[in-house]
Amino acid sequence: MAAVDVYRITDQLDGDTLGVLEARLEARGRHPKFLHMMGEYLDGMGIDGAGTVLDVGCGTGVVARTIARRPAFKGHITGIDLSPSLIHAAQRLGQAEGLAARIDFRAGDSQGLKLPDAAFDAVIAHTLISHVDNPQAVIEELARVVKPGGMIGIFDGDYASITFGTDDPVRGRAMDEAIIAAIVTNPRVMREMPQRLRDAKVDLVSSCSYVLAEVGAADFWKPGIQSFMKLLPKAGAATESEAVAWAEEVLRRSDRGVFFGACNFYSYVARRRS
Ligand SMILES: C[S@@+](CC[C@H](N)C(=O)[O-])C[C@H]1O[C@@H](n2cnc3c(N)ncnc32)[C@H](O)[C@@H]1O
Repeated sequence: MAAVDVYRITDQLDGDTLGVLEARLEARGRHPKFLHMMGEYLDGMGIDGAGTVLDVGCGTGVVARTIARRPAFKGHITGIDLSPSLIHAAQRLGQAEGLAARIDFRAGDSQGLKLPDAAFDAVIAHTLISHVDNPQAVIEELARVVKPGGMIGIFDGDYASITFGTDDPVRGRAMDEAIIAAIVTNPRVMREMPQRLRDAKVDLVSSCSYVLAEVGAADFWKPGIQSFMKLLPKAGAATESEAVAWAEEVLRRSDRGVFFGACNFYSYVARRRS
């Protein structure tokens, strides 16, 4: 069976798997390293000045809630995600934080948004583009629904670079490949972004690059590893025993202070031509 990116088919997953995704997205969304990368491009977009923001592939609403919490942001956010179940989680989490009036979450496909042209001051795709069948369709939809002169923010992992240190490097490389197959559809898409933005006729304003590496002990990567252990068998990328053995080994390395885990991340900020 060919492996499938579980994040691309979130409208078809069972409740257990969605629970794993929800826990992973929320843990990642609380981590200072992740919030730092998000904050840099939101600042670069001038998000606080936006009256209307669209967050596509919003998942549990991590980005929408982060924007709504910014003291200077007074606008309204629309979050759209393929998974009705993740949308329910986003609504519940938004309500629990008292942000429900500021954010409207609804289900939809970012490759064909049922939204009017030029409806938003700013639009965001945060770790979405690596998961969709047609990344260019998403970029063109973002360019369509943002107002002329409005800002587009695209952030994602360069998942072709994800890697974890293991006792046996050959098996380690095979597991890196299994992780890529299980959690992304387009592992190299962030390398294509300068051309893709030009093809969509939007102007690149800035980009930021990051190596999210942890050496010695796993912190950011720990919930990720725990999610990979469950997701790899669900995705058909490894057997349950292979995934558990790998996760136990890399987490043991963390306990012993000899962990290595890394992935590159990039953000791009672009502007729709006036
Ligand atoms: C890795 S998660 C990112 C979620 C959120 N942006 C975050 O960073 O916490 C990818 C999200 O994209 C959603 N997704 C996948 N394909 C989609 C599509 N075609 N249209 C809208 N959302 C999609 C998934 O349901 C999932 O919630």
